[in-house]
Amino acid sequence: MKTDIQWANAGQASEPSLRYNVTPLTPALRVDPQFEADVLEGLDDDPKHIPSIWLYDRLGSEWFEEITAVAEYYPTRTETRLLAGLAGELEGESGAVRSLIEIGSGSSRKTRLLLAAMPELARYVPVDISADFLHDAVAGLARDFPQVRMQPVVADFTAPFALPAEAAADPAGNLGFFPGSTIGNFTPDAAVALMSQLGRTLGPRSRLLIGVDTTQDPALLIPAYDDAAGVTAEFNLNLLDRINRELGGDFDRRDFRHLARHDPRQGRVEMHLVSQRAHEVHVRGRAFAFAEGETIHTENCYKYTPSQFLHMAHAAHWRCERSWQDGGRTGFTVYLLRREA
Ligand code: AVJ
Repeated sequence: MKTDIQWANAGQASEPSLRYNVTPLTPALRVDPQFEADVLEGLDDDPKHIPSIWLYDRLGSEWFEEITAVAEYYPTRTETRLLAGLAGELEGESGAVRSLIEIGSGSSRKTRLLLAAMPELARYVPVDISADFLHDAVAGLARDFPQVRMQPVVADFTAPFALPAEAAADPAGNLGFFPGSTIGNFTPDAAVALMSQLGRTLGPRSRLLIGVDTTQDPALLIPAYDDAAGVTAEFNLNLLDRINRELGGDFDRRDFRHLARHDPRQGRVEMHLVSQRAHEVHVRGRAFAFAEGETIHTENCYKYTPSQFLHMAHAAHWRCERSWQDGGRTGFTVYLLRREA
C-alpha cells in the first residue's frame, strides 16, 4: 500500500509539493504468545479446551456487551438493580470510600451508580489489560464526575498489580469493585487465589464489593447462555474467527455449533463449540482432528451459592459486612467484604 501525504503549501494550491511519500509496512498483527500457546496446547488435549479469557478480544467484548441486553441474560439487569438500591447505603457505618478500584473495566452504567453515591471519593482506578477499554471506561465518566481523578491502571488483574501511591497509602479508604459475577469464570481454587491476591493489593481493612450469581435453575440458566437470537453463539464462535485472524487457522465456523450445558454437580454452566462432522483443522501448520460431536470447552460460569462463596471469601481473608440478594428467581448476590487487618 502506498500513501501519499500532501501538505497544503501556502500559495501553491495548484501544484502541491510532495513532502512525504511513505510506503508503510503492513502493520504486523501483534499476537499474544500466550494465546498461541494456550490454543495449540488446548486443541491438542483430550477433551479440547481453550481458556475463556481469549473470548474477550475487542469483537468478543462487543458481543458480550450485546449479551447484557438480551432478554434471557438476567445477570447484568439483576445486578444493576441491586446496585441502584444499595449504592446509597454502601458507606454508612462502613466509612467513606476514597478510592474506587474496579477490577476489569466494566459497563459505565454500574460504575456511575457508585460514583454518584460517594461524595468523598477522590479517585476512580479501573484496572484492565486493555488500554483501549480503559480509555473508553474513563472518557465519559471524566466529564460527569470532574471532582474524581481518573487513574486507570493497565494490568492483568489475575497477577499482583500496583495501585496509585495515594490509594496504597490509605488502604482503609479503598473499595474494590468486582461486578458481573466475573468471579464465576474462575474455578473455586483459582477464585480463592484471586481474592487473596486482591486483598493483598487493596491492603489491610480495605473493602471489596463483589457480584456473584447463585442461580441453580436450568430453566433460567440454559436460555441465559443460549439465547434465542443467537447472540451468545456469535460471542462463542468469534473465538474461531480470532484463531483464524491471529494464528492463521482454517476453522470454518459453519462446522461448529454453540452449546451451553449445565453441570449441577460442579454448579456451573459450560460453553462449548461442537464439531458437526469429523474433520481436520490447521493452526500454525499443525493439524487437529475433530470427531463428529467432539467439543472445545471455551468457558465456565460457576454459580456459587452464598455458603460456597462465603467459604471461599473466608479462606481468602475476607469477612462479609453486608450482602444484598435478589429476591426473585436468580438469587444473584452482591457482597460487601472487609479485608482482615
Ligand atoms: C462475563 C463471565 C460474567 O459468565 O455470565 C455470558 C460471560 N458468557 N454469556 C457470565 C458470559 C456467556 C459472563 N461473565
